[in-house]
Amino acid sequence: MAHLEVRDVAVRFGTTAALDGVSLSVSRGEVVGILGPNGAGKTTLLDVISGIERPQKGEIRLGTADVTAMPVEERARLGVARTFQAVELLPSLTVEENVLLGCQSRQRSGLISDGLRLPRSRRAEVLARREVMSVLDSLGLTLLHETPVASLPLGTQRMVEIARALCMQPSLLMLDEAGSGMEGDMLRRLGALIARLARSGTAILLIEHDVEFVLANCDFIYIIGGGRMQARGTAAAIRRSPLLADIYLGRAIGGATAVA
Ligand SMILES: Nc1ncnc2c1ncn2[C@@H]1O[C@H](COP(=O)(O)OP(=O)(O)O)[C@@H](O)[C@H]1O
Ligand SMILES: [Mg+2]
Repeated sequence: MAHLEVRDVAVRFGTTAALDGVSLSVSRGEVVGILGPNGAGKTTLLDVISGIERPQKGEIRLGTADVTAMPVEERARLGVARTFQAVELLPSLTVEENVLLGCQSRQRSGLISDGLRLPRSRRAEVLARREVMSVLDSLGLTLLHETPVASLPLGTQRMVEIARALCMQPSLLMLDEAGSGMEGDMLRRLGALIARLARSGTAILLIEHDVEFVLANCDFIYIIGGGRMQARGTAAAIRRSPLLADIYLGRAIGGATAVA
């Protein structure tokens, strides 16, 4: 059974059908990519999966749980973590502090239920800091741990956001254009990281504008346009899709308007 199941989801904003009957699934250990022009509904899809938006129709299942109506924090506790198209870090805080916030969001319920038994909370904080440093180390960010996020280039900020997501030890990791602002070595490191996480059993759902990155790093790919799934298949099959030319050129698919 797939870890994430999205079934026939619809999201409307006023008269805009951002998503219209969208279904998709991601298994543990699988890397699934989404391609589509601007305005196709890609970010909205991550928003309904993470719980920021509620669908007017359809169902979202994680493992055996129906999470369609579950709040963001509860889904996070079940293992849903993501990064944002517009990086959402606290710019004046350091790399370490930003990532620590990811750990705390996972532990919040534990800390609250611990009540005021401080020693255990302090122990949790020590463990959290240790975990942050280990995640930063695995992403090659150790030397930057005391650097305020605002002074880092965009690609590095995106890596910090990934580090924060990893601190939540997600079973489902969703990346919204995490590779934009990255090039060369850093993009290759992102690809290697995704493959490593998948091997360790994480389900990964990623949106990228970089078509080659998606084709090279995803086991399965969906093309979305105008809020509807237009095509799906392995990288080899998608390479042959006539829609790929539209994606490269940023052209509308299925009634969607490509803005840039
Ligand atoms: N909060 C919102 N309010 C109104 N319209 C929105 C909102 N979010 C997205 N949309 C609209 O929904 C459609 C899909 O947007 P989005 O999911 O951001 O596309 P993508 O990520 O593929 O570029 C677009 O037409 C966009 O303008
Ligand atoms: Mg988007």
